[in-house]
Amino acid sequence: MCSKQLLAMGLGTHSNILQTFFSSNSVKNKKVTNLTEDELNDFILSVINMKPDVKDPFYVLDLGWVKCLMEKWNSKLPQIRPFYAVKCNPEPIFLASLALMGAGFDCASQAEIEAVMGIGVSPDRIIFASTCKPETHLKYAAVVGVNLATYDSSIEVEKIKKWYPKCGLLLRIKVGDDNYARRPLGNKFGALPEEVILLLQAAHTAQLPVVGVAFHLGSAVTHPEAYRFAIASAKMIFETAEQLGMPRMHMLDIGGGFTATPQFDDAAATIKAALESYFGDEPGVEIISEPGRFFAETPFTLVTNIIGKRVRGNVKEYWINDGLYGSMMNMLHDPDRVIGTVKPLALNSYPDNTTCSGLMTYSSTVYGPIANSLDTVLTNYQLPELNVNDWIVFSEMGAYSASAGSKFNGFDTSAIRTYLAYSSQSSESSMNGNKV
Ligand SMILES: Cc1ncc(COP(=O)(O)O)c(C=O)c1O
Repeated sequence: MCSKQLLAMGLGTHSNILQTFFSSNSVKNKKVTNLTEDELNDFILSVINMKPDVKDPFYVLDLGWVKCLMEKWNSKLPQIRPFYAVKCNPEPIFLASLALMGAGFDCASQAEIEAVMGIGVSPDRIIFASTCKPETHLKYAAVVGVNLATYDSSIEVEKIKKWYPKCGLLLRIKVGDDNYARRPLGNKFGALPEEVILLLQAAHTAQLPVVGVAFHLGSAVTHPEAYRFAIASAKMIFETAEQLGMPRMHMLDIGGGFTATPQFDDAAATIKAALESYFGDEPGVEIISEPGRFFAETPFTLVTNIIGKRVRGNVKEYWINDGLYGSMMNMLHDPDRVIGTVKPLALNSYPDNTTCSGLMTYSSTVYGPIANSLDTVLTNYQLPELNVNDWIVFSEMGAYSASAGSKFNGFDTSAIRTYLAYSSQSSESSMNGNKV
């Protein structure tokens, strides 16, 4: 891949990022393959056929889809700059493509800051969005000049005062009863309403600049109308700070929680209307967001190899070489997540009909490779009869997958390779609810 190729894709013109990024060794030998959505299957087959003896799982990242998602974001929420949450998927080329399209980044640790700055992103495009930061990471943020962070406790105020007193702060608040998302976060993060004044005063007394308010309704928001309540709560805190004699706040961070589904349109409409109602008369307030899943989930496809099989009565059981201790870790803490599509690729069993079109299906169980029964990916799932060395392909596998997996039993999630593709989908198809 070369910088010209990415520029031809229209991913942006941030030349310092391009130079740093494309001169790094990790990228020099990467190739991007152009394909339409329907050609994804052929592309996967070509990757497999390139090295038929290699059976390791791999990802395909569709950079064309990433571009569509950014276009979607910009059309629906043009006034809100996304600071992509690196924790969701830190794949370097994915990060670089977002950087090229103008995203900022939400980092939760020194390593994430290093990863983002390593591709040439300047510190003013980074928020240290962890409310409880290790002291060494805070010192690092001070050295490199990442000048925006969240907090929700007075102990954090003391820490920041000691190690990074110039850091701009966002008070992260808990919103309502924390029941608005598939994966709520409020039991761990965010100031309670009765703590807000004390926390504002603590920072003010410590002469730390509190520049605004942050919230996060939880990952995969199911009740987008809650954004309205959250924005109203934030506005009250802006007013409280002023009443306490603090400098006027000028930043609102509406967190993440978005999915690349038609629900995004509802969330965007609610947010736009609420910002107009509560912040329409506040000139100069910068609105940012920390989307992770929205950008990462749908562009990544995971391809796994069948490494074992057992037949028990009517049920066919398969073992694949990735699972709940790897890319599917998110199934443990997000059991309601609907897996995207699961498709067999029966290169071994039916080389002339690899997609198994028209074949009879059977109740099947799919296990991951780990010596632990928790590592069960699918139960009672209808699949054609497959065999060792066939493949199973999982779509929409980019969120909290590679980033959350382990090395348990020596199956190293971080070693899973990513191949790059660029499907030429129009943002029009995303607007019409194709994926988004
Ligand atoms: C502080 C913070 N910001 C952003 C995100 C990203 O959230 P999502 O993937 O739901 O957009 C998370 C997810 O846990 C988070 O904790």
